[in-house]
Amino acid sequence: MLDYSSVASAVAGCEGVFHVASPVPYGQSSNPEADVIAPAVTGTLNVLKACKEAEVKRVVVVSSVSAVFNNPNWPKGKAFTEDSWSDEEYCRKNEEWYFLSKTLAEHEAFAYAAKTGLDIVTICPSLVIGPLMQRTVNTSVKVFLSYIKGDQETVQNGFKNLVDVRDVTDALLLAYENPQASGRYLCNSPPIRVSDIVNILIKSSFPTYTYPKNFVEFEGGYTYDTEKLRKLGWTYRPMEETLRDSIECYRRLGILN
Ligand SMILES: NC(=O)c1ccc[n+]([C@@H]2O[C@H](COP(=O)([O-])OP(=O)(O)OC[C@H]3O[C@@H](n4cnc5c(N)ncnc54)[C@H](OP(=O)(O)O)[C@@H]3O)[C@@H](O)[C@H]2O)c1
Repeated sequence: MLDYSSVASAVAGCEGVFHVASPVPYGQSSNPEADVIAPAVTGTLNVLKACKEAEVKRVVVVSSVSAVFNNPNWPKGKAFTEDSWSDEEYCRKNEEWYFLSKTLAEHEAFAYAAKTGLDIVTICPSLVIGPLMQRTVNTSVKVFLSYIKGDQETVQNGFKNLVDVRDVTDALLLAYENPQASGRYLCNSPPIRVSDIVNILIKSSFPTYTYPKNFVEFEGGYTYDTEKLRKLGWTYRPMEETLRDSIECYRRLGILN
């Protein structure tokens, strides 16, 4: 992503580009500027410049709700909409480097669109789970697996914002194919409590994993208004299907035995 010529050669001849690659660290990085922020921000700008040069018709950039919810000025309790941006200084102060990287990259993308006229649409998913195509377990699936592999005996029973990777793919295609699509789109399924995730898994014939035993009631958590994306025709799978397909896939790949 940091080597412009290799990005340019990947983009050459394309009509449309989906920019997905960006570091998603698990835990803290010792050098966040180099490890997280530069690949996200410079990487995005390299992709956009290459797209402009190659006369790409539309670029769909995968951002994140991390670029949305870290906003202390958003009214408490109000569902987040596309109007909310994470506060860069707040991210820096709290050393939320991934949130900062996605916020900076998405801002840069829209600034580049305004400057050059390149057609850019962004999708902001919440925590993505679902079947994997490879055995390497990424950060969001690690978070999900921590509820199954006995990593946590006691958990806060707050609402989790999850979305199926297949529904994210649908959102990317809708954003690409619909000529009316513009700006950013939040992409999230209805929030679900951790205890409900566990109950669904137990009822879906996966009773033997090491689930959390204690749930501490917790009323905080965010909600997202996904009406803008739904107006493009987006729908989401039932969480039962996502959870069942995820576990079956992780078993098949040997990630869960
Ligand atoms: N997973 C989530 O919950 C979630 C939620 C919202 C948004 N997103 C966004 O979705 C996108 C994909 O994330 P993911 O969860 O699928 O993470 P992932 O599995 O870790 O994929 C990230 C990809 O980015 C590539 N990448 C990172 N730095 C790079 C660099 N400097 N040059 C080239 N490639 C680089 C990685 O390549 P290697 O495999 O070679 O390292 C990897 O293929 C990211 O933009 C992320 O911010 C993810």
